This record gives sequence, C-alpha cells and structure tokens, in this order.
Amino acid sequence: MRHFLNLSDAGADGVAAILADALDRKAARSGWTKGRVDADAPLAGHVLAMIFEKNSTRTRVSFDMAVRQLGGQSIVMDAGQMQLGRGETIADTARVVSGYVDAIMIRTGDHAKVEEMAAHASVPVINGLTDASHPCQIIADLLTILDAGKALPGLKVAWLGDGNNVLASIIEAAGLMHFDVVAACPQGFQPSESEVALGKGRVRVVGTAREAVEGADIVATDTWISMGQAHAETKLAAMMPFQVDAALMANAKPDAKFLHCLPAHRGEEVTADVIDGPKSLIWPEAENRLHGQKAILRWCFGQIG
Ligand code: CP
Ligand code: NVA
Repeated sequence: MRHFLNLSDAGADGVAAILADALDRKAARSGWTKGRVDADAPLAGHVLAMIFEKNSTRTRVSFDMAVRQLGGQSIVMDAGQMQLGRGETIADTARVVSGYVDAIMIRTGDHAKVEEMAAHASVPVINGLTDASHPCQIIADLLTILDAGKALPGLKVAWLGDGNNVLASIIEAAGLMHFDVVAACPQGFQPSESEVALGKGRVRVVGTAREAVEGADIVATDTWISMGQAHAETKLAAMMPFQVDAALMANAKPDAKFLHCLPAHRGEEVTADVIDGPKSLIWPEAENRLHGQKAILRWCFGQIG
C-alpha cells in the first residue's frame, strides 16, 4: 500500500518518477481542453474521495480535475458535513470509506490524523495539507522550477517569513533531491530541529532576509497566518522585515524566480510588484498542482516509480 503523507514516503526515486511523469503528461496534452481524458485513461474505474477539514481552492479543484483527466472519478466532502464532524473517529471513517473508493485524500490540521487515516485505510491515503506538511504543493513547486529550465541539484531556494508546513516540505524535498534551502524566519517562527534535520545538512536558518536571498535561484514565501492560526498583530509585526519586495529580490540571482503556494496577501508576505511582476511564477505553479496530483495518484496506485 502506497500512502503519500510526506515526500519521504516516495523517496528520491519516487519523487523523480512523479516529476518525470507529470512533465510527460503535461506535454502530451498541450492545447487540449481541460476535461478531455488522457489517451491511456490510467485511472479508469477508480474513484478518489477527498475530505476537507480546512478550506481549499487549488487542492480541491486540481485533484478533482486530475482524477477526471486520468479517466477516474472523485467525491469531494467537507468534514463538517460528514459524521467525522460529529465525532466519528478517523479510524472508523477510514475503514468505511475504504470500502467505497480506491483512494482517499484528506486535508486536516493535526498530522496525526492523516497518519491514523493511513493506518486504518485499506486504500492509499494522500496528505492534502496538514499543519506539519504540504507535500503535494512541493511537487508542483519542483515541477515549476524544472519548467523554468533550472536543475534541482545545486539549486538555492530562499524561504522568507513563517517556518510553516510548506517550508517543512521544501526542506524535506531538499534532503531528497539535493538542493539547498536558506530560511530567514523571525525568532519563534523558525523551523524546528526535527524539520531542519529532514534537509540532511542542506538547510541553513539565518536571521535576515538579505542573507537568505543572496545568490538565490528561487525566492519563496507563504502567508504569515496559516489556516487554523489566530490572526495575531504581534506575529505580523515580527514578520514584516521578512517581506519579499523588489529591493530584496534584487539581491537574489539576476534570473531568480518567485514562488508562492497561494492564497497570497499582497502587502504582507509579498508586495504586489513582485508577485504580479516578471519574476513571479505563481500561475504556472498553481497550474502545476494539477499535473503534480496526477502523477502522485499514479504513484499511489503503483503505476510509476
Ligand atoms: N496552495 C494550496 O494548497 O491552495 P489551496 O489551499 O487553495 O488548496
Ligand atoms: N501555510 C498555509 C498554506 C496554504 C496552502 C496554510 O497552512 O494555511
């Protein structure tokens, strides 16, 4: 059984296979309408159930369209409308839903919940974001970097702002795919020691934004207040020196690109001129969620890797 709870579940070879498959399939359907099924329809006869305990635009629509393009079908559920929202356990939900569908994607808070889902499901379980990680997002980010003509080994990624779930998965990817991450986060919001350890020596945490972006190929950030966190003025104030603006971008490599998983808050973690400017890859990054999810699904079903 292949669960995709973190990038390490696939390992370096699995991530490489996912990236290659996503790029191949993306190229093969260039110019097609979005609803057309891929020629080989590799998930014909398969159904994916998606459970959302938190809001989503990209993950929800891209997974739904991913399954359709692969020839399968999906069921999208908000946890609050399920018995899960009235206290039915994750374990019981996992056992029951496994009897109806071929794979489960869940977006939730506590990472232990996706682990519990995987432990009790008899079908593959995919992490659609937890407070601890967001592996599907990082597959899309790596695709976007490759699409931009940059190689992963030796790449330098600068992360600015909150040491959150997205950063944790970027660090995990760095350890697997041999690129470097320099994170500049305010005191109290830096990645934990165990998260840094996932980078296998490829991660540095520094105190200033300027230090992080020096020589960077990619500059990335994310919302300062993640889903489920209280909107705290003190946190926003601490984050302000780590805002990505044009002056900061000018200290990265001349051909550096900007990434953001979205949703964005212009004027907070990034200025409008950067996120809407020529160095920004946010729209291809968002589209790559679709191509990435397709390959993740195929990996879960043992079709690649
Ligand atoms: N980046 C991302 O996961 O977006 P959604 O929250 O809209 O799914
Ligand atoms: N760090 C953000 C990512 C949203 C896609 C959050 O968890 O809300």
